[in-house]
Amino acid sequence: MTSSSTAPLFNPFDPAFRADPYPFYDQLRELDPVHVSPMGFTVLTRYEDVARALRGAEFARDIEAHTPPPVDPIRLRRRDNFQRRVEEGRASKSILNLDPPDHTRIRRLVTQAFTPSAIERLRPRVQQLVDDVLDRAAERGEIELVDELAFTVPFQVISDLLDMPMDMSDQVRDWSQALTASLEPTADDATLDASEEAAEGMSEYLRGVVAHRRQHLGDDLLSALLQVEEQGDRLSTAELLSFTLLLYVAGHETTVNLIGNGTLALLRHRDELRRWANDPTMDVQAIDELLRYDGPVQQTVRVPLQPVRFGDVEVPANSMVMTVLGAANHDPAVFDDPHALRLDRPNARNHLAFAAGIHYCLGASLAKLEGSVAIGTLIRRFPDLELAGEPHWRDRLTIRGVDRLPLSLR
Ligand code: HEM
Repeated sequence: MTSSSTAPLFNPFDPAFRADPYPFYDQLRELDPVHVSPMGFTVLTRYEDVARALRGAEFARDIEAHTPPPVDPIRLRRRDNFQRRVEEGRASKSILNLDPPDHTRIRRLVTQAFTPSAIERLRPRVQQLVDDVLDRAAERGEIELVDELAFTVPFQVISDLLDMPMDMSDQVRDWSQALTASLEPTADDATLDASEEAAEGMSEYLRGVVAHRRQHLGDDLLSALLQVEEQGDRLSTAELLSFTLLLYVAGHETTVNLIGNGTLALLRHRDELRRWANDPTMDVQAIDELLRYDGPVQQTVRVPLQPVRFGDVEVPANSMVMTVLGAANHDPAVFDDPHALRLDRPNARNHLAFAAGIHYCLGASLAKLEGSVAIGTLIRRFPDLELAGEPHWRDRLTIRGVDRLPLSLR
């Protein structure tokens, strides 16, 4: 069916949409799966279409390079500020926003550090961090899961991986929240002010850490990246900083929500919770189903480099296409009874929560390890845990998660 004026609107500003986007996704997918939004972009909600846009070489990720200058003053300001910082040599596009061949080059350099076996070596450390948090919580009989476990563990792990000093952790957390807030479609001038300040503060801080590390190389990831840079002169300082910043932000702004959303989903499906708690062999499968069921990253964007046809809608070249990962993951054409949480769902691993194609999440193995150790240990140790207050969803669209999850462990 073609896009029509009677079709439901994709309206991220509707509070009901933000509280629970899945019924809206269903409506869009059924009635207008290639939705041309009055906001000037196309919204894809079918699994097949989303996967095609993510995997296809005819789709680019670098929006700024391939779309006309934005008319929206917020996007214009975001673009101009970034451009200014690039020209001053203080910023560089992150791997996430690059297309081949630049993307290929940087991805090849950094991939070695993120192999599943390198990540698996972190397991004992992740387990120890989770056990320490839960020991303290057990004494009190309660936990505020987001702050105490879901944020702390991924944050400490990425800090360990990069061997970052911990004295600035509160500041780094604030900066990274301000940075991701500016990526939301609902960002306003105040959000951008805060994010520019955060970008300045964080780059300045990282620059200092990198300068120090150059003189004191260790066996951490940052040292490895520096050595790659020095041996082959392949990563510029701006590239190194931008990658480190992305890792730092991506490393904890997303996994926190896997642990939060995943635990909440299990609390609302107690049979599934008990089933996993009694069967540790379910760890891998369970985490894939939780990612499919309510993933932390709900959408991303691509730009077709030539006109592309989806059904009978032709999407013009150089226009913005929003690929709604959360909608694809609930497409009944791929996932039977998609709104049911079934930890033994045979094809859960086909979810698109980490996207697909060349930008497939570099940290996927790490995120799954952290998620399965954190949630698996929590529910095995406290199988009767209960919600001790109403969860509160963060006012975000691209990144979906609760900002508070108080639990009683008794
Ligand atoms: C549950 C947690 C996570 C989720 C749901 C997630 C999701 C995603 C998604 C959807 C993308 C692709 C976006 C696009 O194609 O436009 C992505 C890319 C990326 N992620 Fe993650 N991520 C998670 C955790 C992590 C962690 C822990 C790290 C690092 C430690 C990380 C590092 C990255 C990097 C570097 C990229 C860019 C890859 C590229 O462009 O080639 N992510 N992630």
